[in-house]
Amino acid sequence: MSTARKLSSNVGNDTSDAAAAVQAAPDITIQTALNDAVKALERKLVPEPEETGKMVIVSCGKYYGAIYFKLYAGKSANWDFHDLVRLKIKEPMLCPRPETEELVELFWKKYRDQVQVLALDVLPEAVELSNDNAKRFLANHVGGRSIQDGFDVVVSNPPYIPTKDMTTLSEDVSRYESDKALCGGDDGLDIIRHIVKRLPEWTTGNCWLEVDDSHPSLIADWLSPGSLESARFGVECVSTYKDFCGRDRFVKLRVL
Ligand SMILES: C[S@@+](CC[C@H](N)C(=O)[O-])C[C@H]1O[C@@H](n2cnc3c(N)ncnc32)[C@H](O)[C@@H]1O
Repeated sequence: MSTARKLSSNVGNDTSDAAAAVQAAPDITIQTALNDAVKALERKLVPEPEETGKMVIVSCGKYYGAIYFKLYAGKSANWDFHDLVRLKIKEPMLCPRPETEELVELFWKKYRDQVQVLALDVLPEAVELSNDNAKRFLANHVGGRSIQDGFDVVVSNPPYIPTKDMTTLSEDVSRYESDKALCGGDDGLDIIRHIVKRLPEWTTGNCWLEVDDSHPSLIADWLSPGSLESARFGVECVSTYKDFCGRDRFVKLRVL
């Protein structure tokens, strides 16, 4: 199947739907977004660059489509996230998703005024980029903490996509995001299990996780309050939450 055909199966063929999907962006016209897209795709020798570019722009909206193509061409770009406008992003880091804004909503209001943040990532480039962004946006909230100090709350958006689902990701994710940031092993729980094991070393409080929609029921059974497994790890599943599409996507854990 051609690249353009694969993309069009994601967005449907109805041009009025496509038009409705295009978002307003003051500094980018559809034509400039498309020109940049075609150049980036040609550079990477992607077949049918114009068709492919149109389809990605339609499926993502022109603003986000244009950002993807900037990243695809190896440049950094800006991305709005929660109340942060024009966060810097670049390959191979994941562009933060709308559901992660919902994860932030779940805990941020309670902590925002007094919080001190320590952020961790296994990828040195992600740490460097986060430090740059933190200096601009969170200057009063970072610095002066180490893991040994412990945390009031732990929040994680780990790689959680089950291996079998990696081939079914939408084109805007699979084409531009690194597998290492996305795939959580066979059932998607590899890193989550690791977090559960280590959680009591890090906090005596709660942990918020963004997860695959197959996970909340699995985690709620695995760590149900009063269960042997919950006692073994010293962690219980307190509640699960849905995202804006009504899918179970967030889990709140508590250290016993
Ligand atoms: C789903 S992405 C989330 C990226 C970003 N923090 C966000 O919320 O949009 C998962 C991130 O976890 C990082 N990661 C993967 N394995 C890790 C590990 N063992 N320890 C720390 N970070 C890890 C990846 O490099 C990637 O940046």
